[in-house]
Amino acid sequence: MNRYRRTAVYGLVAIVSVAGLAACGANSSDDSGDGGKTIALLLPETKTTRYESFDKPLFEAKVKELCSDCKVNYLNADQDASKQQQQAESAITDGASVLVLDPVDGKAATGIVKSAQSSDVPVVAYDRFIEGADYYISFDNERVGEMQGEALVKATGDTGDILMLNGSPTDPNAAQFKKGAHSVIDKSGLNVLAEYDNPDWSPDNAQKFTSSQLNNIDPSQLAGVYAANDGQAGGVFAALKAAGVTDFPPITGQDAELAAIQRILAGQQYMTVYKPIKTEADQAAQLAVDLVNGDKPSDTTDFEGVPSYILEPISVTKDNVKDTVVKDKFYSVDDICTTEYADACQSAGLQ
Ligand code: GAL
Repeated sequence: MNRYRRTAVYGLVAIVSVAGLAACGANSSDDSGDGGKTIALLLPETKTTRYESFDKPLFEAKVKELCSDCKVNYLNADQDASKQQQQAESAITDGASVLVLDPVDGKAATGIVKSAQSSDVPVVAYDRFIEGADYYISFDNERVGEMQGEALVKATGDTGDILMLNGSPTDPNAAQFKKGAHSVIDKSGLNVLAEYDNPDWSPDNAQKFTSSQLNNIDPSQLAGVYAANDGQAGGVFAALKAAGVTDFPPITGQDAELAAIQRILAGQQYMTVYKPIKTEADQAAQLAVDLVNGDKPSDTTDFEGVPSYILEPISVTKDNVKDTVVKDKFYSVDDICTTEYADACQSAGLQ
């Protein structure tokens, strides 16, 4: 595909396993304030496990490794765009020299970019695109949606009725996942019974939507469910389970959350999309440190007018859990293979 040049990320080897590094719901940890070089990291929410378990600790660790006198001011917006705007403003007031911003609302964040730039603070759009940002780092998000659609077509034998649960309309990635998924599903033999744009990616909303659909549809009629991420896949799974389903139709996902990897091994979810977050967080940390030091990297590619780094996502099913998330040390076998999943792990050759 020629949409833009892709930066391949093959052979990734994570040095540390970060599965155990979850910061227990901390909303803000501010190490700044001693006049050193401060980088603000602004993440959108906490319900998706990646942010506090991976993005935050990995980013902080890389900054520390690259720059001994840099501080990270971490702020999480809890899915509230106006809270994120205030966090960005106070980060600038508190002396941040760079904002690494994963926006709750991509459009609203153009305002944050403008005001940061007017204070000579460059903005790195992290994972989600923001028009006018100085840099952008993400995965090939349309490809994520295509991978999910392709997997669903394969798992269903390209026939039958499905539900579609997309991400938040304020998240620019959600539109790209949806576009990629539709590009495959619309020309397949699958029939979309109902489709839902989940306002804030909430797993609870996903469960409610699926349960309400099951008031009209017999669960056995569902050939599969397109869920744009693992959080929602968990909600879909809970709704099906509550409806008495034991033989689960293929459900898609994204983020390689631990619970999703376990469901995949247990036959309760068909696939997820693994995005090696370490590569993304490391690249963002490197860029932020360069910017704080006044360097301007030139090894970027263009994405909608913004110098970018675009990384490759990886589709994960039962067959390649071992060769992807385990090989990369994203999770250890012990993380995945708890007592409940021991049998599933054994049959997948993990233990
Ligand atoms: C997307 C992100 C996904 C997932 C989702 C839910 O923007 O790329 O990895 O985390 O948001 O917050």
